[in-house]
Amino acid sequence: MCGIVGYVGPQDARDVVLEGLRRLEYRGYDSAGIAVLADGALSTAKKAGKLANLEKVLADRPLPAATTGIGHTRWATHGGPSDANAHPHVSADGSVAVIHNGIIENFAPLRAECEATGIEFASETDTEVAAHLLAAAYREAPEGETRLADAMRAVCRRLEGAFTLVATHVDAPDTLVAARRSSPLVVGIGETDDGAAEYFLGSDVAAFIGHTRNALELGQDQVVEIDRARGVTVTDFHGAPVEPTAYTVDWDAAAAEKGGYDWFMLKEIAEQPQAIADTLLGRLGPNGELALDEVRLSDQELRDVDKIFVVACGTAYHAGLIAKYAIEHWTRIPVEVEVASEFRYRDPVLDRSTLVIVISQSGETMDTLMALRHAKDQKARVLAICNANGSTIPRESDAVLYTYAGPEIAVASTKGFLTQVVACYLVGLFLAQVRGMKFEDEVAAVVDDLRALPDAVASVLAEMEPVRGLARSLAGEDRMLFLGRHVGFPVALEGALKLKELAYIHAEGFAAGELKHGPIAVIDQGTPVVVVVPSPRSRESVHGKVVSNIQEVRARGARTIVIAEEGDDDVVPYADHLIRVPRTPTLLAPVVTTVPLQVLACEIADSRGLDVDQPRNLAKSVTVE
Ligand code: G6P
Repeated sequence: MCGIVGYVGPQDARDVVLEGLRRLEYRGYDSAGIAVLADGALSTAKKAGKLANLEKVLADRPLPAATTGIGHTRWATHGGPSDANAHPHVSADGSVAVIHNGIIENFAPLRAECEATGIEFASETDTEVAAHLLAAAYREAPEGETRLADAMRAVCRRLEGAFTLVATHVDAPDTLVAARRSSPLVVGIGETDDGAAEYFLGSDVAAFIGHTRNALELGQDQVVEIDRARGVTVTDFHGAPVEPTAYTVDWDAAAAEKGGYDWFMLKEIAEQPQAIADTLLGRLGPNGELALDEVRLSDQELRDVDKIFVVACGTAYHAGLIAKYAIEHWTRIPVEVEVASEFRYRDPVLDRSTLVIVISQSGETMDTLMALRHAKDQKARVLAICNANGSTIPRESDAVLYTYAGPEIAVASTKGFLTQVVACYLVGLFLAQVRGMKFEDEVAAVVDDLRALPDAVASVLAEMEPVRGLARSLAGEDRMLFLGRHVGFPVALEGALKLKELAYIHAEGFAAGELKHGPIAVIDQGTPVVVVVPSPRSRESVHGKVVSNIQEVRARGARTIVIAEEGDDDVVPYADHLIRVPRTPTLLAPVVTTVPLQVLACEIADSRGLDVDQPRNLAKSVTVE
């Protein structure tokens, strides 16, 4: 949520910052802006709407060439998306430009304080107070090379809420100062071909992976000063020096390009077989035993677990719902799944023997982060399933299992989701293995099934042409239902969410058995109903019950779109459209049945002429509560 870029170095900051913004636009795209510091003066440009609007402004009125620059792409919180509310915000005296991600919760009294000194605000944002306060703090700070950093520390001590701030000051050429509290910020350290040092700031590494793979993690409540001559200095908000953690970014710059696809989402859907294979890589021993090195919890701690919560938001929450079926089945430990924004406010019962699994592709989702902190305060053990190395959630967790999906740029999660589901299977099997619930050969058998998933997903993808045709025929619909039972139920929820977020079609997912308790009332002639059918081999005739449910909706006029396993002939008479998926063990089936629903939503949105990668009102990583 809100993309932040900063650059200090020998290259033209205008180009580096704009390129970073292009790569970060998925974080927010209702307005964008850039500020550069050239010849002791700040020049800014900002524009409501997508980055392309700003690019047009810059083409008409180019900013001067510079070696220091900052840029921002916004997802509005305080103040609607307008030119005036776009970042950067410049102090009333013109000395400071600031960009911000997060919410300054005490901005109202701070704004009143600034206004009392005669400052007139140019925007409705909470951010603007930071610009005015920083300019004032700079004037008051003792002269010296750390003056801007001192001023930033003084301001941060007064701010409440979550924020990443990056500032540039007219008196401090070739310097950027940034601060973070509960909001993401990473530092990139690079070197140009002729050996000159250059420095980057970004909300995530996508901002600079085209330039360097050397990055620094920043902790909470830290201020970083980047100076071309003096390098990088990190302190806490009181000025005490901090040693930042260096890491190497393993994402490939090309992975953050569209690579010939019309949409990032299509590319990311196509990358799913590889992403699953990469997530399994190195974790499956030769004899079928699991080795999860990053789980820094002792075997005894894992044996002591008597209850599991899975906590996440959005699509990641659906991965958690699937995890519940597998983990309970394999370990016999009760699992509760909860959306992160509700979790901590209802005072869940947690103690040392509770394992909280937090799932987050970005590792920065604020609701999930707050749930994690609440769980830790209550002494629960926290295991993160995360895709972004160096992000906040894995850093604050007791253990982490990374998904190796690579950068996910489309706002709607696809490969992030499937790899989260696979990681959940690994956690469940690992727990079962450590707790002696499964013999090694049983683990090995499931492991073999997991190894087959990349090919199974690839074979689904190879058969998607009819789904595209179906999507075109559904583009004019205004509502759709999704039904599933057992692990097919969360898949139905995910299918409905994808359709809502991409195509803006009202869609709901239901447990197929609940249909007769209400939702069936909304079905009339032609209502499209997608049904995720479990394997005929699933237990307790779940399959037969879903086949009955298809007949029930069809009898009321529904147009049925049925996703069923190859060889399942029972569904054929009742399917207006039949989408086949390969035979897969029941608990692992969501990995294959989700794929057609992703393609369906993507293609319907495309047929409706919508922006698949950047749906309205959404952001990739929601870093506010
Ligand atoms: C946002 C995105 C969703 C995503 C959710 C959780 O709402 O639009 O696609 O599932 O955040 O994101 P996370 O990074 O925590 O997995």
